[in-house]
Amino acid sequence: MQPKDRLIVALDFPDLKSAMSMVESLTPEVSFFKVGLELFTAEGAAAVKAIKAAGGRVFLDLKLHDIPNTVARTAAVLAGLGVDMFNVHAAGGRAMMKAAAEAVAKATAEAREAAAGSGCQVIAVTVLTSLDDAALRDEVGLARPLPEVVAGWCGLALQSGLQGVVASAQEAAMLRARFGPAAVLVTPGIRPAGEGMQDHSRVVTPAKALKNGSTYIVVGRPITAAGQPREAARRIIAEMEGI
Ligand code: C5P
Repeated sequence: MQPKDRLIVALDFPDLKSAMSMVESLTPEVSFFKVGLELFTAEGAAAVKAIKAAGGRVFLDLKLHDIPNTVARTAAVLAGLGVDMFNVHAAGGRAMMKAAAEAVAKATAEAREAAAGSGCQVIAVTVLTSLDDAALRDEVGLARPLPEVVAGWCGLALQSGLQGVVASAQEAAMLRARFGPAAVLVTPGIRPAGEGMQDHSRVVTPAKALKNGSTYIVVGRPITAAGQPREAARRIIAEMEGI
C-alpha cells in the first residue's frame, strides 16, 4: 500500500456542504475519509453516499456498543450502505463482535449475489486515545496496565472475526509484534511534530506511527483546521514517504 493510501482524514463537520468542500480540496491527494458521529448525526447516509460518489472510501466511525442483536442488525445496514470500514467497541465483548462480523459476512455474500460487491472491514475500538493509564484505572475502572487492556481487546477482536482495531500508534508496535501482519491497525491521535495535543493523551507523529506498524493513520484537525488543508495533507504524506 502506498503511504498516501494509509491516510484517513476525519471529516468532523456539522454539515455535508462543509464536509464535501473539504473532500474536494483534498482530492486526489486523499482518498479515504472518516465520517464520525457529528456528520452522521447531522446528515446520515447522505454523507456516505456523497463521499462514495466523489470516488472516496469511507470509514464510518460510529463506535457501536450494544447487545449483539442490535449491533448485528445495524452492521447489516452499514454493510449495505457500502461503507468500506466501520467500528464497534471491543468492550461490547465477543458475542457482540462476532455478531457484527457475521452480519457483515452475510450482507457481503448477499451483495455479491446481487453483483454489487462489498469489502466492508469491521474493527474494534480499544482504549480511546483521549484516556491515559490513570483515567482508565480511576475513572473507567480497568486496573490492568493500558497496553495490556489494548492487547487483550485486540486479541479478542481478531478471535471474534474482526479485521483489526483502533488504538493509539503508541501501542501499534506491540500489537504488530503480537498479532502479525494481517491485523488492521487504525491509529488516531496523530500529530505532526510541534503541533499541540488538543484533547488526546497519547499522540504520535505520522512517520513514527507508520514505523510502529500502523496500517492507517487517522488525522483530523491538523489537516481540516489548517490554513491550507491540501498542503497540510501533502506534508503528512511526504513525512510518511520519507521513512
Ligand atoms: O482532529 P483529530 O486528528 O484529533 O481527530 C481524531 C479523530 O479520530 C476524531 O474524529 C475522533 O473521533 C477519532 N478518534 C477515534 N478513536 C480514538 C480517538 C479519536 O476514532 N481513540
